[in-house]
Amino acid sequence: RPKVTIPALREMKARGEKIVMHTAYNHWQAQMAELAGADTILVGDSAGMVEHGFTSTVPVTMEMMLLHCAAVVRGSRSPFIIGDMPFMSYEVSIQEAVRNAGRLVKEGGVDAVKLEGGTSRAQTIEAIVRAGIPVVGHVGLTPQSATQLGGFKVQGKDRERARQVLEDAMAVQEAGACMVVLECVPTPLAKVITERLSIPTVGIGAGPHCDGQVLVFHDVLGIFDAFKPKFVKRYMNCRDAMIQALREYTQEVRSAAFPGEEHGFSMDEDQLEGL
Ligand code: KIV
Ligand code: NA
Repeated sequence: RPKVTIPALREMKARGEKIVMHTAYNHWQAQMAELAGADTILVGDSAGMVEHGFTSTVPVTMEMMLLHCAAVVRGSRSPFIIGDMPFMSYEVSIQEAVRNAGRLVKEGGVDAVKLEGGTSRAQTIEAIVRAGIPVVGHVGLTPQSATQLGGFKVQGKDRERARQVLEDAMAVQEAGACMVVLECVPTPLAKVITERLSIPTVGIGAGPHCDGQVLVFHDVLGIFDAFKPKFVKRYMNCRDAMIQALREYTQEVRSAAFPGEEHGFSMDEDQLEGL
């Protein structure tokens, strides 16, 4: 399959063909996502929670994202790869934002960067795009500023807030973003936004009318069990299967059932004489 490009993603929207976004944080996860047919892979700052054990995405650093991005890029060929800009890598100044976006592309090797925020980040998005770096927006529930939003809650249930989320999505498109993630937006509002925008929308907890969908790798496979948001669908219970296999290994070492004859290396035992 040829490399997925921004025009290809736009054509998918035009044709009404769903865009499938997976997340991945390392080499083997990226390989699996690609083998499963991902159109695009997001190296999310959700890494902080599902890979590093933080309770939010706030502590994630540029250095962490650079390592995750580079590993994912090494593990995939065709999918369009997006790297998340971590909290505080784009808020202090536009210059710093452009520099950090540049690092994710040059050192991390990603095709595009994603950052959270709408009207308040429009100038930042514009500057990064002007520097030649594709940007994916992220509006609705923005986890990096969840405290400000009053927690992990659906965004846009009343008229005032719905207008704000719509304006955020429009601002992101106006600023030159090539795609936008809608997180925890009521289904009817996400439908309106998807119809109004010319760029593709990718939803998570935003209903079926978005141009695409994204779910976190660990949620799809049932690996992460700290909590399960309403919008998550687990397609398997990987965690229990993994624990079961690890338990068997543990028990076989304890009972000396492992390693077996076939796992060892033979030699001519004469060679041990007089040793
Ligand atoms: O970090 C992440 O995984 C994300 C998606 C949930 C959209 O931003
Ligand atoms: Na994220």
